[in-house]
Formats: sequence, C-alpha cells, structure tokens
Amino acid sequence: MLEIPPFLTLDDVDFQGKSVLVRVDINSPIDPQTGEILDASRIEAHSTTIKTLENSKVVILAHQGRPGSSDFTTLEEHSRVLSKYLEKEVEYIDDIIGPAARDRISRLKPGEVLMLENVRFLAEETLEFPPEKHANSWLVRKLSPLFDLFVNDAFAAAHRPHASLTGFPEVLPAVAGRVMEKELRALSRVFADWSRKKRVFVIGGAKIGDMVKFIDTLLTQKIANQVLLGGLVSLLFLKASGFSLGEPTESVLESRGASKYIDLAKDLLQRYSSKIALPTDVAENQGGERKEINVSNLPAQNPIMDVGGETIDRYKAEIASADIVVLKGPAGVIEEPAFSLGTKEILRAVAHSKALSIVGGGHESAILNELGLTDKIDYVSSGGGALIAFLSGETLPAVEALARAAARMRGA
Ligand code: 3PG
Repeated sequence: MLEIPPFLTLDDVDFQGKSVLVRVDINSPIDPQTGEILDASRIEAHSTTIKTLENSKVVILAHQGRPGSSDFTTLEEHSRVLSKYLEKEVEYIDDIIGPAARDRISRLKPGEVLMLENVRFLAEETLEFPPEKHANSWLVRKLSPLFDLFVNDAFAAAHRPHASLTGFPEVLPAVAGRVMEKELRALSRVFADWSRKKRVFVIGGAKIGDMVKFIDTLLTQKIANQVLLGGLVSLLFLKASGFSLGEPTESVLESRGASKYIDLAKDLLQRYSSKIALPTDVAENQGGERKEINVSNLPAQNPIMDVGGETIDRYKAEIASADIVVLKGPAGVIEEPAFSLGTKEILRAVAHSKALSIVGGGHESAILNELGLTDKIDYVSSGGGALIAFLSGETLPAVEALARAAARMRGA
C-alpha cells in the first residue's frame, strides 16, 4: 500500500490579493437531452475552496466529459451553479488559452471569480505525457505567466496524468485545495485500518476499460479478497464468461470499447473465478418497466439496465461478512428510477454493515444523500477512479506533482 507524499495546502501560502488558478473536478452527470446538470455535489464541494480564496483573483479550470461522449459540453451551466453556492457572480468565458481569456484574467480584481471553458476542448490536455513535457504544453505556457499560485482541488481526476493536473505544479507554486486535502487526509486514515481481513470491493459503472485493469491489480496484489461486479463492467464479464447478452446490450458495451478488454476479462475469470462475483440475474428495460431474468435465460431482448433481486441478496450477504467494503460505480442505470434499485439496495447494505465502509464517485454520493445514509459511511470520496487507483497501489500523478512542488517550495 502506498504512502501519501507530503504536500502543502492553502494554510501554507499567502494568497490574499494574488492571482490563483484553481483546477477543480466538477465533471457531473448531464442529462443528454436537456444538458441539465443532474447532480451538483462536486460543484458544491469545491465552493469551500473558492470561498477560502475570497480575496484572491480566482480562475477556475475544469473538464466535463470526454471528447465524443454525450456529456462532453461547455462549462457555462457549471458556472451558474457555482455562483449559486458561492452566492456571488462566477463569470464564464468560452475560451481557455486564447487572447480573450488571457486578457480577462489579467484584468481580474481581488474577489472576482472567472471560469474558463472545458479544458478538454484542448487536444493536448488528455495526452498522457510526463509532467515536464506537460509543463511545456501550450496550456501551461500561455496561462502560467498570469498566475502567482496553482491550487489543485481535483482529487477525482488525480489519477489522470493530464496537462492541467501535472503541468502547472512544475512551473508555479502549487498546493492542495480543501477538497484534495480532505480526501488525502481521509485516505491516510483508511490506511490505519487497512490490515483488516476480508476486503470486499463492489465495482460497477460504465468505465469498463479502467475498471477491468483495476480488478486485475486488486486481485493480483491481493488488495481485494472478493470483487462483486455490477453495472456495465459486470456485463463485460458476463460476456467474457460466454453469455450472449442480446443485441441492445452488446451494442452499448461495444460503444464503450468492450472488445479491447474482453480477453483480459476472460483471463481474470480463469485466474480468479472464486473471487469474482457476477450477477446471476439481471433487470432488462421492457418499455420502461423492470423485467428480471435469470442469466441462464439470456440473451435479453431489451437493454440490461440493472442487477436482479437474487444478485442483490447474494451481494448483501458478502457485504455483511466483510471487514472492509469499498464501493465504486453504480450497479445499474441510476438515472432511471426503476433501475436504481440494485445501487440503492447495495448502498443500504454497505451503510448498515459493520465493515469499514468507503464509497467513491459522484453518482454514489448523490444517492447516499437521497437515501439519507451519507453519515453511515466511514469515508465518502468524491473520486471514483482516483480512489480505486490509489487503493490498488497506483501513484496519483496529480498528487505526486503537488509533492514535487512542495519539496521545491520548502527548499526555496
Ligand atoms: C471522474 O469523474 O472520474 C473524473 O472526473 C475523471 O474523469 P475521466 O474518467 O473522464 O478522466
């Protein structure tokens, strides 16, 4: 298990009146039809950091979605939502590094907040380069001369070696914001209990590529004793174990690049069959209604959108006997009430278990709030992928970048 490298926070620097670039993670679920932000909990969380900087000239940098996905959109709506939580204007500009953005940044006054456009509109942002190469990106070269301080508050994106996360700390003084600080301190506390015996990971969601790789690490490194699968990732494993899921579901899986990961999923099933639990029944969407079918009756004619009742009961029993439970990613399509059953029931079981409970990801925290169960979870993280990456022993490039900046700043 990894240590968290030493980093500095807002308590260690003078930011009054200064120009501060704040990288946040306000990547939120978006209604594909209306463009409406469906859950604003990440935006609300980062408002704490922005409030701390109330006498600074604050510029916010963030991403939303990935190029090609239905939630890849501008940050105009995000700026309006943030305004609401800050109770003051957040100006939005549809530019990132161009003359309009740079001119506006250079004229900001203390107390003003400006949100730049979705940083993933820049092709170089998501290139997986080392920090010193990102320090030479156009993003960093154009913006860094305009700032005194870089604040990274984007814990949920800390596992991404992207320019906006690792490039700026190479050239600017850089510290963790309040969300990042809180998350890293909570992770340190988790480590104190990490030697507890039965560690169950409940993994779902739609990011199948990331998750199949993490499942490999979690089992190979013996970080998890048991992995319970839901969401699209469980459908990938059902397909890998020979089930034909039906055309509507297979085409969704394929749109997520399933064929690239199927061999690894097959290999994992061979090596760890007793440690990977798959759904034994699923719920398909029959005209908006939930129709449960046993996997022996697959293929399904309609899209599969949740795990079934028998699977929920099996997973609840595993969770009840766990010493540590880590949950990341919904078990079904939670945007549709009929298919949020699996996620809700499993979260209820986690909340009521005696285990040390850790829940990661924006969707899950929104559901915990809705169920009034947030207080029953030991650690609710805003990060999904970042949390699992860290618990599976990976270094988080954005946190490493903050640590390098801290060492440089302490030496100065
Ligand atoms: C997340 O929601 O997990 C983070 O914002 C990272 O998003 P990504 O998986 O698109 O990089």
